[in-house]
Amino acid sequence: MRRLVVSPAPGPLTGRNRPPGDKSVSQRAAILGGLARGKTVIRGFLDSDDAASTLSAMEQLGARVERGGAGRVDIHGGALRAPDKPLDLGNSGTGLRLLAGALAGQPDLIGQSIRLTGDESLSSRPMDRIIDPLTLMGARITSRDGRCPLVIEPAPLRGCSHTLKMASAQVKSAILLAGMFAQGSTQVVEPGKSRDHTERMLPRFGVALQNLPNGAAIAGPQSPEGAEISVPGDPSSAAFIMAAAALVAGSSVRLDNVGLNPTRSGFFSLLQAMGARVDIQHDAGKGEEPVGSVHVQAAPLRGIEVSQAQVPAAIDEFPLLMALAAVAEGKTVIRGAAELRVKECDRIAVMCAQLARLGVDVEELDDGAIVTGGAVSGGVVESHSDHRIAMSFAVLGLAAEKPIAVEDAGWIATSYPGFVDDLRALGASLAWE
Ligand code: S3P
Repeated sequence: MRRLVVSPAPGPLTGRNRPPGDKSVSQRAAILGGLARGKTVIRGFLDSDDAASTLSAMEQLGARVERGGAGRVDIHGGALRAPDKPLDLGNSGTGLRLLAGALAGQPDLIGQSIRLTGDESLSSRPMDRIIDPLTLMGARITSRDGRCPLVIEPAPLRGCSHTLKMASAQVKSAILLAGMFAQGSTQVVEPGKSRDHTERMLPRFGVALQNLPNGAAIAGPQSPEGAEISVPGDPSSAAFIMAAAALVAGSSVRLDNVGLNPTRSGFFSLLQAMGARVDIQHDAGKGEEPVGSVHVQAAPLRGIEVSQAQVPAAIDEFPLLMALAAVAEGKTVIRGAAELRVKECDRIAVMCAQLARLGVDVEELDDGAIVTGGAVSGGVVESHSDHRIAMSFAVLGLAAEKPIAVEDAGWIATSYPGFVDDLRALGASLAWE
C-alpha cells in the first residue's frame, strides 16, 4: 500500500479548515435511519471507508439509500430483510458492534440468520464484550472464540441491567439498540462516561430514553421513526489539524463546524494543558450535538500527566498525544488507558515501537506509556493498518528534523480521506509515493 512522506513544515500553517463529518455520529445515523420507519435525511454524512461500510450494510439489509451532494444521504428504512451474503463491516468496530446490538432482537428478522464479518484488524478485536451482555438478554450469537465472524439469529429479547467493566460507547450503544427492541427495561452503567451520541440521537428518532450519570436506561419495545440528522465535524479528525497547528512555530489555524460534545473534546483540554493556545467558540445550536469553531495558535509544548478519568473523552486521540509528547519539553505520562490495546491495533505497543524507531525515549506501561520529549530525527514508521497511527506520524513529521515516511498510509481513508489535502492547503508539504 501507499507510503506517505511528510517533510518538516516549510513555514507556519495558516488558514481555515472544515473537518469531515463525525464518524461515530454518521454511523449511528446510518444504522438508525435503516431501522426507522419512513424517511431519514442526514446532512454532513462522513465520506470515508468506515461510514461507507456501515451504510452499505444497511442497504444490504433492505434500506433504500439515496446519496446526494455535500454529505446528504436519504434513507428509507424500517423494512429489514436478511441479506443474501455476509455483511462486511470492513475496519469498523462501531459499525459491527452497534449493528450486532440492533439486529439481536430485530422483530422483522426473527428466525433468520445474519453473518457479520470484517477485515483482519476487526477480526482480531474482542467481540465477547458485546456477545456476553446481549446473550444475557436472550440474543443468539455465535462467534469464532469471541471474535468475528459473528452469526446472529435474531430472537425475542428481555430487558436487563448491565454494569460494564470498561467505559465503551460501542458496548453501551449495542446494549441500548438491543434494548430498544427488548421487552422491559434495559439499563447500562459504565465506570466512566463514554461518548453519548446514541443517547442524544435516539430521541430524534422518537425513541424515549433516560440518561443516567454514567449510562442510560431504555424501556422497550419501541420503534424508531425517520428523522433529520445534522452531522457535526469530527473532533477526532479536527484533533490532527489542531495538533499540526500547535506544533509548527508561528501557525494560526481556525477550524469551523467542529463537534464540541464534552464526551469527545478531552483532547482539546489536554492540548491546552501542554501549552497550545486553543480558543473555542460555541455556535448557537439547534441540533442534538453542540458545534462551534476552534482557533489554534502554536506555542512551545510541555509534557503532561494524564489520569484515568481523562481517558474516555480523549480515547481516540492518544496516538496523537504520544506523537506530540515526543517533541514536547519534559515527560508525558499516560495511565489508565489499557483500552488502547484493543483498538484498530494495539495502540500502546505500536506507538511505543514506532516512536522508538525514530529515536524517541519511550517506556511502555501495561495501561499507557511514558514519553520523554526532545528533538525527533526523521525515519520510516509503519501504520499497522491503523488510520490514527498513520495520521499521528504524519503530524509528527511536520516537526521532525528530517522527513518521516509512513508506510501503508492509505488507511487514513478509514476516517479522513481529505487529510493530506487539508494539511497541504494550510501550507504543509506531504507526498504520496
Ligand atoms: C466509538 C467508541 C470508541 C472509539 C471508537 C468509536 C463509537 O470505542 O474508540 O473509535 O463510535 O462508539 P470503544 O467503545 O471501544 O471505546
